[in-house]
Amino acid sequence: IEASDIGGENVKVEFEDGIAWVKLNRPDKRNAMSVGLAEDMIRVLDELEIDDRAGVIILTGEGEAFSAGMDLKDFFRATDGVSDVKRMRAYRSTRAWQWRLLMHYAKPTIAMVNGWCFGGAFTPLICCDLAIASEDAVFGLSEINWGVIPGGVVSKAISTLMNDRKAMYYVMTGEKFGGKMAEQLGLVNEAVPADKLRERTVEIARVLLEKNPTVLRQARMAYKYVREMTWEESAEYLTAKADQTTFVDPEKGREKGLSQFLDTKTYRPGHGAYKR
Ligand code: ACO
Repeated sequence: IEASDIGGENVKVEFEDGIAWVKLNRPDKRNAMSVGLAEDMIRVLDELEIDDRAGVIILTGEGEAFSAGMDLKDFFRATDGVSDVKRMRAYRSTRAWQWRLLMHYAKPTIAMVNGWCFGGAFTPLICCDLAIASEDAVFGLSEINWGVIPGGVVSKAISTLMNDRKAMYYVMTGEKFGGKMAEQLGLVNEAVPADKLRERTVEIARVLLEKNPTVLRQARMAYKYVREMTWEESAEYLTAKADQTTFVDPEKGREKGLSQFLDTKTYRPGHGAYKR
């Protein structure tokens, strides 16, 4: 594991064989997200996007929390008394990393939920491509418990993954739930025992690292964009996107795949990837 100083005060970045570990690093504050943390995360994600040591990003938390949500002191109280423009800028930096950057990120992202995950933490969780949780992790839309609504973009984010009845239940009750329930709700791909969390997450990252990175990026983007399109638009867009993928892929994966299946008959796409 190679340490790095990219993270700054609030984020820790480490590299391990193609994986960039991005750890929210305010364990004493349960990784609550301050304005400073947002600024560090914007820089980290920006730099890692063009860093060859990072093939897959794993977002997790240092210590016992994934993240206890927005920092009630260093985000909310700190921006209550300031000018409108300063407040707008604080909200903008949070939006910039929690969903804009993560949603359209060039590299695959996995959220590894190691512990507490409350309120605002649902946004980066949902905007990572995949998520694996510890069975011991504790989730909650706790906003209602301190007199606010699931704001930022949390209510929208949960509506993209959760069934309406269930989402409303947690919005209205603020009830906590564990990793297995997060799996049932579709918030995470899998919940695994705490001592298997890292191993399982790395295993998935390794599968992604074996894929053609250009095609993987195009596939992720295409899926995310069509969610908000009609069928007609989706069909047009996906046909164009598939052509674009062939055009931009330096590896010429489509040609290789076709040839290895049809000409040399050396592989079966149903069972695994072509030889790169
Ligand atoms: N904002 C600011 N500080 C926080 C936050 C937060 N969201 N969460 C924890 N902290 C701070 C505590 O104030 C405490 O600071 P201190 O040591 O200076 O007193 C420190 O982190 C440790 O927290 P404890 O509460 O002592 O830790 P404990 O392990 O007992 O509990 C828990 C952890 C359950 C996560 C608790 O801290 C908590 O309920 N946090 C708030 C969760 C929440 O509702 N977040 C807001 C969601 S809404 C939104 O994001 C918009």
